[in-house]
Amino acid sequence: MRDATLHIIGTGPGDPELLTLKALKTLTACPVIAAPKASPSGSSTALAIISQAVDLDGKTVFELYFPMKKIRAGKAPEEEVSRAWRAAAATIIACLDQGLDVAFPTLGDPAIYSTGYYLYDTLLSMRPDIRVRFHAGIPAMSCCSAETAMPICLGNEMLAVVPATFSDERLRSTLEAFDTIVLMKVHRVLPRICRLLEETGLLAKAVLIERAGMEGERIIRDLSTIPENPHYFSTMIIRRNGGFQAPWSRDRQQAGPIPADVSAM
Ligand SMILES: C[S@@+](CC[C@H](N)C(=O)[O-])C[C@H]1O[C@@H](n2cnc3c(N)ncnc32)[C@H](O)[C@@H]1O
Repeated sequence: MRDATLHIIGTGPGDPELLTLKALKTLTACPVIAAPKASPSGSSTALAIISQAVDLDGKTVFELYFPMKKIRAGKAPEEEVSRAWRAAAATIIACLDQGLDVAFPTLGDPAIYSTGYYLYDTLLSMRPDIRVRFHAGIPAMSCCSAETAMPICLGNEMLAVVPATFSDERLRSTLEAFDTIVLMKVHRVLPRICRLLEETGLLAKAVLIERAGMEGERIIRDLSTIPENPHYFSTMIIRRNGGFQAPWSRDRQQAGPIPADVSAM
């Protein structure tokens, strides 16, 4: 029997047009899709993204539970978490052992706060012979940058990408040390973050991007009023040196639609 491969594939940040051609080709070719979901009864965001671009008819589709718990790099996770990771890995190994290639789509890029590497690590500990390939995806922060015409780092600027759920102390020292700070997972802690930015004089330098590149996208540059109930797909870019904004504004809604010949590609 041929050796099958697990493909860990970045889906990009939500807009199916931001899947790479390689992701599309690999997802189409794999007979099994194993997609992560954050709650046992919920559904997979990554699966929802790829299903807008890939025909899933005839494929075996699994939604595998990956609990959303704090993970500390280099430390073993809680028992509930490692049990779920092992169960997910076992499902995938069973398919690979039948010679079936498996695609594991994951939001954005697999290298940035993604379940992809936890799965990889678990698989290696269970079956070091398993073949795995990673496929880069467009990170959410790149899409947020594009939607706001806000560069992430230029020249000698330094960038930090951190979860907004860090302690105030850790965030404060990051805000002091870097020129651009990208805050991920900002949705649950927005009031605390806005207070911290006000204290550090950076509130006017921050932009919140909700559902970047997707239906219902919101770009909020004035954070003096804290937006209510931000979506899970929310990222903040704080740029000490400010952004660039053409007088007619670069926000997509105001800049006009993408030309037909481009959006039809
Ligand atoms: C678990 S992390 C996944 C990051 C992903 N691997 C990446 O490369 O961007 C989830 C966070 O990504 C950000 N995110 C994902 N999609 C987004 C979108 N369309 N718009 C804004 N932020 C997004 C949000 O900060 C969200 O809380």
